Amino acid sequence: MSRTVFVNGEFVPEADARISVFDRGFLFADGVYEVTAVIAGKLVDYEAHQARLRRSLAELDLPSPATDDELLALHRELVRRNALDLGSIYLQVTRGAVDRDFVWPAADTRPGLVLFTQPRASLDSPEAERGLRVAVAPDLRWGRRDIKTVQLLYASMAKSQARREGFDDVWMTENGFVTEGSSNNAYILSQEGRIVTPSLSRSILPGITRSAVLRGAAEAGLEIEERPFSVAEAQGAREAFITSAGAFVTPVVEIDGVRVANGRPGDLAQRLRRLYLDEAIRTAI
Ligand code: PDD
Repeated sequence: MSRTVFVNGEFVPEADARISVFDRGFLFADGVYEVTAVIAGKLVDYEAHQARLRRSLAELDLPSPATDDELLALHRELVRRNALDLGSIYLQVTRGAVDRDFVWPAADTRPGLVLFTQPRASLDSPEAERGLRVAVAPDLRWGRRDIKTVQLLYASMAKSQARREGFDDVWMTENGFVTEGSSNNAYILSQEGRIVTPSLSRSILPGITRSAVLRGAAEAGLEIEERPFSVAEAQGAREAFITSAGAFVTPVVEIDGVRVANGRPGDLAQRLRRLYLDEAIRTAI
């Protein structure tokens, strides 16, 4: 079934969607994005995604394409037009279309705004059931990974390389420590029984799922340590897992060819996945 997408002010069939060759998202990766999960036709963690979008726009002096109310209405209208029950909405804002120039155009250039849906078949996934095998690669991305820009080439390259080598995904490292996955945040359950994940900084994206999962874990009385961890510590951990709006909470069972514990998805990751999904369904709007 052909989707209806939203492009610069219009809902159109995906085959008719057009973007200017001068769009700065296309020429300079001069744009930011959000991916919001949709469950039972409702938007998951929507306010938090909206707040992070606002922050990304502000960090890059990108003009806002619409008000908060308009953006929410667009999300809902797209869900409705595509009869989307389960999946996600991708939103992208770019600095608009002007003749190619490294200097940012005047602030009154009309920003580009695109939204489209991506359906998924089920809340479950084979990866969640069997766990991920991740490769390890140096984190060669830029120094502002806290901004959710569309500049995803290195992450895409590293994940493609990992797939060619038979892995599911890749964890990236810097100065000997894991930063994050190609498009997800990384965690371990330490030998001391604490959930360990890197603290927020310019080195990682402040994941919306990360914040919801850590909140849920704290409410459940679990201990959390926000600090760096090495590949060796992760390989010797009791469990490992990732979070994102697409993967929710997904166990990691092997890191750079070394099995984590018994090589099967851990109890904590499975429990956090259930906790997260229950809360996501309860609070979706
Ligand atoms: N990626 N880290 C990176 C580099 C990411 O690209 C993402 C999300 C996350 C997790 O953030 P959140 O929990 O807000 O989804 C962490 C999205 C899903 C994507 O690019 O498709």
